[in-house]
Amino acid sequence: MPSYAIVGASRGLGLAWLQFLSKDPNNTVIGLVRDVKKTKQTLVEEKIENVHIFRGDMADKKSLEAAATSAAEVLPSGLDVIIINGVYVTEQTNKMTVSDLAAQPDLLYKDMHTSLDVNVLGSIYAVNAFLPLILKGAQKKIIFISSGHADIELPVPADVNDMVTYATIKGAVNMIAAKYAAELKSKDVKVLSMSPGLVATSMNNNPSGEELAYFMKLLGNFKRIFPYWRATPLTPDESVGHQFNIIENLTMADTGKFLSHWGNKTWL
Ligand SMILES: NC(=O)c1ccc[n+]([C@@H]2O[C@H](COP(=O)([O-])OP(=O)(O)OC[C@H]3O[C@@H](n4cnc5c(N)ncnc54)[C@H](OP(=O)(O)O)[C@@H]3O)[C@@H](O)[C@H]2O)c1
Repeated sequence: MPSYAIVGASRGLGLAWLQFLSKDPNNTVIGLVRDVKKTKQTLVEEKIENVHIFRGDMADKKSLEAAATSAAEVLPSGLDVIIINGVYVTEQTNKMTVSDLAAQPDLLYKDMHTSLDVNVLGSIYAVNAFLPLILKGAQKKIIFISSGHADIELPVPADVNDMVTYATIKGAVNMIAAKYAAELKSKDVKVLSMSPGLVATSMNNNPSGEELAYFMKLLGNFKRIFPYWRATPLTPDESVGHQFNIIENLTMADTGKFLSHWGNKTWL
């Protein structure tokens, strides 16, 4: 009976994970969200059943520890897979270059520190809270959801000079994954940092006219770098299907790596 915990499961890819995993009645599926009541309502509307929802805020270490304690009650054989999916990201700074941000030091400080707190420290605290359950589980897999933006070889050829905080902090998440992998390899724990592809979620939806022009330029740049890309975002369900294949086939041979939903360095 495989078991999965999704941290940051209220919407977008996190919700798609709940939908996907709960279709198999053999799975035990746990979702950590900031607003339990709202997510439970969403689950009813989306007809998603067979999921345990607990409060877990990546900005609140204690809530993650409490969630792990609650989860332990429905995980007598431990936890097979934890997926750290939630993200703090703000539209306000996404389209700013490093120089733009440097010109607004208060904004830069707040953006970097909040992103560090939620996305890096929050990931660490989530993994740490669930680690005893992972060590008790059969599969022993820890998945950090990263982004192709964290590939240091992408910005120059793809002309992506913005997404500064997001890319920087996802790069830090990749390193945390590698460090956990080194720490836990003797315990047979497989750790992966994975990009889900470009996916139609709230991160990319409902662009204004100006945003659409920006987005089309970005897509053109990506298409130049990845000529085989179909040039449209994946649906959340498609992305989760690809990610699931990678997780299912994850072995110690790939522990600590940063891979795409294709299992390589093709981010789109
Ligand atoms: N979509 C893409 O194209 C794309 C590309 C590359 C990587 N990714 C990565 O894929 C993951 C999912 O992205 P998405 O597109 O599904 O994003 P999304 O639609 O914006 O959803 C973000 C999720 O993160 C949760 N979250 C935010 N702050 C949190 C916190 N402090 N504690 C717990 N959960 C929190 C949100 O919960 P609330 O409802 O409470 O706000 C929501 O469930 C992220 O790690 C993102 O960086 C996405």
